[in-house]
Amino acid sequence: MEKYIIHGGVRLEGSVKISGSKNAALPIFAATLLTDEEVILKNVPQLSDTQTMTLLLRSLGKKVSWDTGSPGRVIIQPELKAGLVVNTKASYEIVKRMRASICVLGPLLTRYSKAEVSLPGGCAFGPRPVDLHISGLRALGADVKLIHGNIVAEAKGLLKNSATGLRRLRGGHVPVMQGRISSVLATDNILSAAVLAEGETCIENAAREPETEDLVNFLKHIGAEITQEIEDPHKEDLFHEGKSISIQRLRVKGVSKLHGGEYTIIPDRIEAGSFMSFAAITGGKLLIQNCEPKHLHAVIQIFEELGLSIQQKSSNELLVKTAGKRLKRLKRLKGIEVSTGPYPLFPTDMQALLMAVAVLAEGDTILEESIYSSRFNHVGELERLGASITLEGNKAYIHGVSALEGARVMASDLRAGAALVAASLAASGKSELRRVYHIKRGYENLLGKLKKLGAKIVLEDG
Ligand code: EPU
Repeated sequence: MEKYIIHGGVRLEGSVKISGSKNAALPIFAATLLTDEEVILKNVPQLSDTQTMTLLLRSLGKKVSWDTGSPGRVIIQPELKAGLVVNTKASYEIVKRMRASICVLGPLLTRYSKAEVSLPGGCAFGPRPVDLHISGLRALGADVKLIHGNIVAEAKGLLKNSATGLRRLRGGHVPVMQGRISSVLATDNILSAAVLAEGETCIENAAREPETEDLVNFLKHIGAEITQEIEDPHKEDLFHEGKSISIQRLRVKGVSKLHGGEYTIIPDRIEAGSFMSFAAITGGKLLIQNCEPKHLHAVIQIFEELGLSIQQKSSNELLVKTAGKRLKRLKRLKGIEVSTGPYPLFPTDMQALLMAVAVLAEGDTILEESIYSSRFNHVGELERLGASITLEGNKAYIHGVSALEGARVMASDLRAGAALVAASLAASGKSELRRVYHIKRGYENLLGKLKKLGAKIVLEDG
């Protein structure tokens, strides 16, 4: 099995190009099932999750070609002539590899009147229910059953789609996320189903994450009619964990057919945030290119509080640097208190990476995880490198230490793995990081990008 060998203590310096967003690309790939015309996607990151989605789409009857002459360009066409039946069952063999496979449920159901997707099950950082996906599709008139571990959905309404002759879902009010944390992928599934439903749909408290916004823009680009309404952020009932956030309602007017098109995926904000962590923890200086600064507002704010200097150099470039020139001269960073939350608050996907940096900060940092109940698998492994962390429910109390020492550690999920890369880059001596396949799910060429910045990191087998 592959592992990273990292010799820490090297200050990272140079420029790094951020790839396209994994979490935007996956639902957009799935949404290409909504049309029989060719879709060309650009800025698609080459990583194992997009490869898994490629296999899934192929198994459902799409022809997916990665353009070898133009990295990140993917051409998606129907394998069969429009109108012929495709496979509407997403097999357990593929779904078990990647939870985001559930994104094909809404598109298959609304385009082909039926869909069967294996239940994705739990994941490495605790239970991740799919009740919102199911109740949202039921609100659009779908008959959804759980049979032998599969979600089996059917559009049983009387109305037929004039373009396909198949039964349509019917638009309606979808209040399922009202008063709850909105789910990104449930929003994506319900939205993708609503675009071909009969009549109008209103999705309350829809996710506002930039990745869902990218799906909205893609769907509009191929002919969907969607409007976004943002509710007054100052209403008391819209507060989340004591912070005011505005709430989004999506209104969709169903159409009978969508066309093809060419679309560019947004940059990966979590990859950009990860490189901020690598700069912070190694006392480095990085020019982060091809990023979208406006998606990183909360992350920039927290890293600035930690003592990082972040300057916007152009519309898509950030210069990130720490005070000292060498790691040993780096001033210890100041302790802070942070809670994760839905966008635009601090993202849960950056929690482990922030924790790695806070481990070397001066004083105590309190980090609260408010999206997932137990996304703390990285804590024990960070402790192997010398971190001092106390867990109490969904709060981590991080007691800053002055140095970390290399050790053998293991990635338990994607972001936990990235946090261990960060900590190993700062630890003295050699670290061995196992189960790097988790990291390869979500970072394009992480090894190559880090090496270019001076990191001493190699991939080994065994
Ligand atoms: N939830 C429910 N019921 C549902 C769905 C979600 O209660 O039916 C709750 C969850 O328990 C959680 C919250 O809603 O409290 C959001 O979680 P969810 O599992 O829906 O997240 P997701 O939409 O499946 C996406 C990202 C995750 C990211 C979360 C939160 C993709 C492919 N995945 O997952 O990304 O952590 O949103 O922002 O977009 C990652 O990239 O490492 C990753 C895990």
